[in-house]
Amino acid sequence: MIRIGIAGLGTVGASTLDLLINRNARIAARAGVEMAVTAVCSRDRTKDRGVDLSGVTWFDDPVALAASDDIDMYIELIGGADGVAKASVEAALAAGKCVVTANKAMLAHHGAAMAKQAESTPGASLHYEAAVAGGIPAIKALREGMTANDVTRVSGILNGTCNYILTEMEQTGASFDDVLADAQRLGYAEADPEADVGGFDAAHKLSLLSSIAFGHEVDFDAVEITGIDRVAAEDFAFAGELGYRIRLLGVAERTGAGIAQRMRPCLTPKNSPLGKIEGVTNAVLIEGDAIGSTMLTGPGAGGGPTASAVIADIVDAARGNTPPTFGLSSDKGLSAPTPAPQGTDAGAFYLRLSLADRPGALADVAAALGAEGVSIHRMRQYEHEGDAAPVAIVTHETGEAKLNRAIDRITALPVSLAAPVSMRIVSI
Ligand SMILES: NC(=O)c1ccc[n+]([C@@H]2O[C@H](COP(=O)([O-])OP(=O)(O)OC[C@H]3O[C@@H](n4cnc5c(N)ncnc54)[C@H](OP(=O)(O)O)[C@@H]3O)[C@@H](O)[C@H]2O)c1
Repeated sequence: MIRIGIAGLGTVGASTLDLLINRNARIAARAGVEMAVTAVCSRDRTKDRGVDLSGVTWFDDPVALAASDDIDMYIELIGGADGVAKASVEAALAAGKCVVTANKAMLAHHGAAMAKQAESTPGASLHYEAAVAGGIPAIKALREGMTANDVTRVSGILNGTCNYILTEMEQTGASFDDVLADAQRLGYAEADPEADVGGFDAAHKLSLLSSIAFGHEVDFDAVEITGIDRVAAEDFAFAGELGYRIRLLGVAERTGAGIAQRMRPCLTPKNSPLGKIEGVTNAVLIEGDAIGSTMLTGPGAGGGPTASAVIADIVDAARGNTPPTFGLSSDKGLSAPTPAPQGTDAGAFYLRLSLADRPGALADVAAALGAEGVSIHRMRQYEHEGDAAPVAIVTHETGEAKLNRAIDRITALPVSLAAPVSMRIVSI
């Protein structure tokens, strides 16, 4: 009999508890061993969690639960990079327990150290399928299914809130602020949306995928992060005319200069694999030398889908299926991070400018781009009211550093009325 302790009975914790209690026979049969939730911990003991908790021991302190001799497996569903989530996971690992967590923020910041602790403590193991793309079994697919491959790139749509906002903006023509407010009303976005729309939540997930794909210690600080809050309604009109959509894309790839990890809004063709992903759906695209490419799509969040991934980990841990946390052993297998220098991407870029509607403005912009060797593939000025003329530019392939210098020049022009917006154009 495996005795399970769950800390955190919110969206994911309550769904996990529900599945473990109401589908116990099915889950135990697949694990090949009896299992029961014997202890739980949350802040508010009086809250109704939707299941009968009589007979289950209540803990007020997650660290005490994690270290308790009364449980064999500790499920951390509290959240937060530090604080009690981290302290309790460390306590459970130190006590030689299997730990299952959905906490991407914690793993992005402390995953390398936690993997070392898990792998060097007899009996301990660390499982986190639910931390990346919710119900999509992306960790297992990449870490175990792609073992034969030299992975060249792993990319994806890793935040349902952002993809919902971008999809709605495209389909309704509404502004970022209006769609965000709707998303908050519908429960798709948090009251404090910064972690989602700032790109940080998705970047946490990308850093975990990159570690597995390229065999390096988790290196969240190396992720270049740009949120979606500067994407405007007119960008969709411009992008649409060119056959593109705008998506917050996470891309981790091996380059000549090291591993690049980028999370940023990009233009991608409407018919490309990631361009087709709409609404709150997530997707993970893996490219490798043996497989070519494969993509997994599905629900990236929500109680049921995320609990589904938590339970898959519980069954793995119960069976003793505990591969190295990030695919290679953390003492000898994983390499130290070798990040590519930031701001060194190369390719075609989209630029949106707001220019004073006066003779010579476009010539000034062309000169600023030309001075940095950035050549224009397409340029279009759009209809407007008032003095500010929206101008969309698509560059030929260029270096990001050159482009950024050209943007500085444009920003300094008297005809430039607002900070330019730039987005990389990619075909994934
Ligand atoms: N929600 C999703 O769709 C989703 C998807 C993938 C991953 N995740 C990850 O799953 C984790 C949980 O997310 P969630 O959405 O379920 O969060 P949530 O609904 O806010 O639930 C958090 C739970 O933790 C409890 N808690 C907070 N501080 C505590 C403390 N000091 N001691 C004991 N319990 C404490 C809360 O207690 P009370 O209920 O008593 O207040 C609550 O039950 C996070 O790491 C999140 O990133 C979530």
